[in-house]
Amino acid sequence: MKIAVVGTGYVGLVTGAVFADGGHTVICADINEKKIELLKKGIMPIYEEGLSDLVAKNVCEKRLSFTTNVGKAVKDSNVVFIVVGTPSNQSGSADLSAVWVVAKTIADNLNGYKIIVTKSTVPVGTNERIKQIIKDNLKGRAKFDVVSNPEFLREGTAIFDANNVDRVVLGSDSKSALSKIASLYTHLNVPILKSDFRSAELIKYASNAFLATKISFINEIARICDRAKADVKTVADGMGYDKRIVRSFLNSGIGYGGSCFPKDVEALYRTSSDQEYDFRLLRGVMDVNERQKYFYVEKIVNFFEGNLSGKTLACLGTAFKNNTDDIRKSVAIEVIKILRGEGAKIRVFDPAALENAKAELGNDVIYYAKDAYDAIEGVDGICILTEWREFAELDFEKIRKVVKGRVLFDGRNIFDPKTVEKLGFKYFGIGRGLL
Ligand code: UGA
Repeated sequence: MKIAVVGTGYVGLVTGAVFADGGHTVICADINEKKIELLKKGIMPIYEEGLSDLVAKNVCEKRLSFTTNVGKAVKDSNVVFIVVGTPSNQSGSADLSAVWVVAKTIADNLNGYKIIVTKSTVPVGTNERIKQIIKDNLKGRAKFDVVSNPEFLREGTAIFDANNVDRVVLGSDSKSALSKIASLYTHLNVPILKSDFRSAELIKYASNAFLATKISFINEIARICDRAKADVKTVADGMGYDKRIVRSFLNSGIGYGGSCFPKDVEALYRTSSDQEYDFRLLRGVMDVNERQKYFYVEKIVNFFEGNLSGKTLACLGTAFKNNTDDIRKSVAIEVIKILRGEGAKIRVFDPAALENAKAELGNDVIYYAKDAYDAIEGVDGICILTEWREFAELDFEKIRKVVKGRVLFDGRNIFDPKTVEKLGFKYFGIGRGLL
């Protein structure tokens, strides 16, 4: 198939590269000239494992190209994926302005039958409106169909996820369009759920909100664990063996962040309010998440007897999670700002997100380190803020020689408390039985 992918963020780029690798001809379009310029030179605007090689291979084999001319990309394709951002606006609902602009551009350039597929995370009713906008703005008589196809890949494992999906969700009012788009995924051998627009749209929000609920739930269990001297990791393991529960997304920490969960949970809450329903459970999920970072900071402040001024802390991690350079709504960044506000001096390191962190934190941080050991030099305490594997593999013999204070605040529960204490460090995790 000839595919246009409009929007070259994490999802757009990965979608385009994976379809190209599957043998389709793909044009990725974006109005951001700088981004397209970089992509044309083979430079990825984001860090995502394996993406650079996959893009290079498919550009070289002439199945993948990039353009700023969205109209031409539409004209040259028979399937157009809308994968633009839908950030939160001030009220917490999704800002769909970019989606409307693309819908209008599609209408302006519809030179024959095309299927318009929405991958952007959009609230209930959006695909119907996309259809209406295209209809209202059509210049010629070309026909089209719209299909909702929410995306479930995660940053950091996006390419793996795109090739190893659990299910494909499609929603449309056109049976033939559903079948055509389903054919793009049949090789994955997974359930393909064909539904209506509105159910498909809600599946995406319900899935993200449910995963966020799991995280807030385990973060509440962690509170009890601290008080009851139990270990939240063991509790999660025990729960996770139950096939109805499963272990994933039961890792307690400093709270969920990123460009998806905070915005999507809030947007679903707004959607329910718009339908005159107060989704109380979601309010709780958001509230727990908002408080979680303060719960962590409190442990640090209490250890230093209520005063962080004059203390230097190493903050390991600024990305919102491991294997990404993304700091959007990163709780690690929020924690650093709070610690700074409490008077601590911060030395920071992240394997991929340090440059992005610099732009956000500027002089709030006294030192941007070359590596984790460099960050730790002379500090009064170490804070683990992102669950990078390389942090879990740090050599404590080496650390012992360079730190001033032997205390570890493990905001991601990546260490075993007993092992750390045996190595001569005081350990504070989240829900590991130590208040
Ligand atoms: C999330 C969903 O997992 C994807 O399925 C979805 O496609 C994507 O949003 C999206 O809507 O585009 P992502 O934001 O990339 O993916 O990251 P996750 O791996 O879900 O992590 C989100 C946040 O939750 C991170 O801050 C992470 O550290 C935190 N988290 C995750 C926990 O605190 N505990 C866990 O057990 C799991």
